[in-house]
Amino acid sequence: MVSAQSFVQRILKNQPDEPVVAKASVYAPANIALIKYWGKRDILLNLPNTASLSISLGKKGTHTEISRASGDADEIILNDQLLSCDNFFVTRLQQYLDLFRPHPQFYFSVQTLSTVPVAAGLASSASGFAAMILALRQFFGWSLPEYQLSLLARLGSGSACRSLWQGFVYWQQGEAADGFDSYAMPLADTWPDLRIGLVIISDKAKATSSRDGMLHTVKTSPLYTIWPEVVAADLARIRPAISSRDFTALGEVAEGNAMAMHATALAARPGVCYSLPQTIAMMQKVWELRGSGVEVYFTQDAGPNLKLLFLAKDSEVMQQVFSDMVVIAPF
Ligand code: DP6
Repeated sequence: MVSAQSFVQRILKNQPDEPVVAKASVYAPANIALIKYWGKRDILLNLPNTASLSISLGKKGTHTEISRASGDADEIILNDQLLSCDNFFVTRLQQYLDLFRPHPQFYFSVQTLSTVPVAAGLASSASGFAAMILALRQFFGWSLPEYQLSLLARLGSGSACRSLWQGFVYWQQGEAADGFDSYAMPLADTWPDLRIGLVIISDKAKATSSRDGMLHTVKTSPLYTIWPEVVAADLARIRPAISSRDFTALGEVAEGNAMAMHATALAARPGVCYSLPQTIAMMQKVWELRGSGVEVYFTQDAGPNLKLLFLAKDSEVMQQVFSDMVVIAPF
């Protein structure tokens, strides 16, 4: 079994390990999966059971600055708040930073600003770890091909490997036991009329993280066995939908894929339910709107918030119906 440490060492073998700048400053967008990553074949390396496909969220994401800490501990500031070392976010980030310290007494000062609610199922860990690997590259002056940065971001959070680019991004699952062929790549397709609406039902941290939720689903859900087939069929349909800008096909597949993912989680023992009553009410509103001729679809990650997919021509009516909605034009 390959450890995360040896995985990193193999990639950084010939790279500098002393800072080349005093401070690195970067940005990475959040991303929303249209075809979900849900379940791993290797937990240490975040190797997925299936491929997935996402769209990045433009200016919604994570700004990160890193420098060398002056004291003898990491200093982690999230959204202008200094976090204590027993904070869950700090522990997870430090474990990741451990993979990249030139020596054990090298401490980082990290300042990170998220423009999406942290832990609300809005992919903040994805942009967070993608920004962190971009910051580390700038700080140490690594010269690495982009796919290797994607491999390194994946170790922090699987979905982070897709957050290094804007637009549509495809994460190929890979087959190698060492995990070197499981990375993301941007698709050349653009879609200027595509809109994503974020409606925040709750920005409280979720009860079950996506990490725990997918692990538990893989282990206990009798419906999980069919998931890889669902993903393969959905990918086969969504790729041409993207190339030909067939919005109906894109929306149907994305919504169906999200529902299928949640069905696997609901059927776990005990079941994992990420929806709140407001989530279901909002789904019904989407279906009603669609029935009345406004073409809108939703997707949902490991949290209660829905992300809406629609076209620019319907922006006005959508904003009237969902007055608190933040609209993103990804292209
Ligand atoms: C539902 O990437 O957060 O958002 O690899 O354990 O960090 P870890 O999981 P994470 O899972 C994301 C799950 C999802 C679907 C997706 O983004 O593809």
